[in-house]
Amino acid sequence: DAAIAVASTLSVVEPESSGIGGGFMAVLHRAEDGRNVFIDARETAPAAVDPKDYLKPDGSPDRETSLDGPLSAGIPGEPAGLVLIAKRYGRLSLQQSLAPAIRIARDGFKPDPRLHESIAGEQKALRRWPASAAKYLVDGQPPAADAIWRDPGQAHTLELIARHGDDGFYRGETAHKLVDAVRAAGGNWTLADLAGYQAKERTPISVDYRGYRIITAPPPSSGGVAIAEVLNILSGYNLAGMDKVQRVHYVVEAMRRAFRDHNDYLGDPDFVKMPLDMLLSPYYADGLRQGILPDRATPSSMLPRADPADAGMHTTHFSIIDADGNMAAVTLTVNTILGSKFVAAGTGVLLNNEMDDFALVPDKPNAYGLLGSKANAPAGGKRMLSSMSPSIVIGPERTMVIGSPGGSTIITQVLEGILNFIDGESAQQIVAHKRFHHQYLPDVVMVEPGTFDPATSAALEKMGYTLKQREPWGFMNVVTWNRETNRLDAASDPRRPSGLGEVQ
Ligand code: DON
Repeated sequence: DAAIAVASTLSVVEPESSGIGGGFMAVLHRAEDGRNVFIDARETAPAAVDPKDYLKPDGSPDRETSLDGPLSAGIPGEPAGLVLIAKRYGRLSLQQSLAPAIRIARDGFKPDPRLHESIAGEQKALRRWPASAAKYLVDGQPPAADAIWRDPGQAHTLELIARHGDDGFYRGETAHKLVDAVRAAGGNWTLADLAGYQAKERTPISVDYRGYRIITAPPPSSGGVAIAEVLNILSGYNLAGMDKVQRVHYVVEAMRRAFRDHNDYLGDPDFVKMPLDMLLSPYYADGLRQGILPDRATPSSMLPRADPADAGMHTTHFSIIDADGNMAAVTLTVNTILGSKFVAAGTGVLLNNEMDDFALVPDKPNAYGLLGSKANAPAGGKRMLSSMSPSIVIGPERTMVIGSPGGSTIITQVLEGILNFIDGESAQQIVAHKRFHHQYLPDVVMVEPGTFDPATSAALEKMGYTLKQREPWGFMNVVTWNRETNRLDAASDPRRPSGLGEVQ
C-alpha cells in the first residue's frame, strides 16, 4: 500500500524521474510467509516498432527519435504494476492508496528545485509539444520558483485508474486519448498495444554470498544477473584480507566480465532464451576467476569500442520496510530527465523515452554507453533491457532494502552497497560511500572524485587501468533493519540535494 502511494505521488511531484507514463521494477517481500516476488512493470515496444525510425540516413543512431517525442516512448507499465500490487499484495483498496497522489495533483504542491532545474534544462524539447508546454511552462517559459502547481489532467487519469483499475488507463477514455495524441505527433501506438499490456510477476534472482541472501531483479533487468555474477566471482577471494588496490582490482575485473555477458546474452525473457543457469552457476564464475591476473587489468578489447554519452539522467528508487516486516524495493523510471518530454494531450501523462534502452543500432551504445546484441533488439511487445536492480539482502542479523537510479551504474552502485552492508556499514554510510564503475566497454574505470587517494590511483594505473573521474552519480535509498535489536534505519543519498517540495 505504501509503495503504491509513494509511486503515484512521485508521478505527480517528481515527473522528471518516474511516473504513470513510465515503468518500474520491484522486489517485494511478504512477512507472513516469507514470499519474495519480482514485479515487472517494464514498458514494451509497440507492435509497429520500426528500427529504421531510430537511424539517421547515414546509419548512425538518431537520438532525436530514441530520446525525444512519441517514438521514444514504450507502452507504459507503471499503472498495470500498481494495480497488480494492490490486487495481490495490498490491504487497502487501490482507491485508498491512490488518494494522496490525486489530492496533491488537485490541491497543488510547491515543486522542489530539481523539478525546476529539469524543466529549465529541457524547455526547448517541452516547447515542441503543445500539451507538454501547457503542463510545464507558463507562457512558454519555466515557471517561477515559488509557483504552486496543480495537475488536474493527471488527477483525472489517476481517478480513472482508481475507479476502473487497468481499464482506467489501458482501455476506454485514457487509452483513446493516449493513442490519438501519440499518433497525431508521429508515433505508432495502437489501442491493441495498450489493451495487450500486462505487468508480470517473475521469480527474483537469489544469490548467497558470505552468509547473506541477496534477492534481486531478474531479466528483463540485467541487474540481478550481473550482481550475482560479480558476487560469485568475488566469493573465491578473501577481499577482507586484501589492501584497497587489490580489492578494487578484483571488483572491477568481476564487473568487466559481468557487463560483457550483459551485452551478449540478456534481453526480455519472453522473447529470448538466455543461458541463465550458466551465467548464475558458481562453476562458471570459477572459470572467469581463472582468467583474472592478480596484478594486471584485462583489456576489454574483444568487442567494438563504445563511447559513453553523459545523458542527463533521471529515475528514482524507494525502499520500504513496514511494522510487520513486509518489504518493497522499487525502482521507477521514465528513463532520462522528463522522459520523452511528450505529454499526451488530455491525460496529463508524461510519456517515457525507454525505447532508447533497446539495442536500437547493433554495436552502437545507448544513452548509458551500453552495447547490446540481438537479445536486446527491438520487437513489438518486447520489453527493453533495464539496469534497474531493486534488491533485498537478508543476513544473519541484519536485513537491507536497497536500490538506486543511475542508468548502467545502478548495477555497480547496488553491488557496492551490498558489499558495504556485508562489511557492516550503516544505512547512512552505505548511501554516502564513494563509488566506482566499470562496464566492460568503454574500458575505463569511472571514478567518483574522492574515491581513491593518489597512491591507490597510481597503483591501479600501473596495473593497466584507465581511470576517469566522473561527477557523482546515483540517488540511493536504503532502509536497514537490525532484527536482533529491532532497529530500523533509513538513509537517502547525500548526492541529490533533498530540497523537499511542499505539499499544499
Ligand atoms: O531501465 C534502465 O536501466 C534505465 N531506463 C534507467 C535510467 C536511469 O536510471 C537514469 N538515471 N538516473
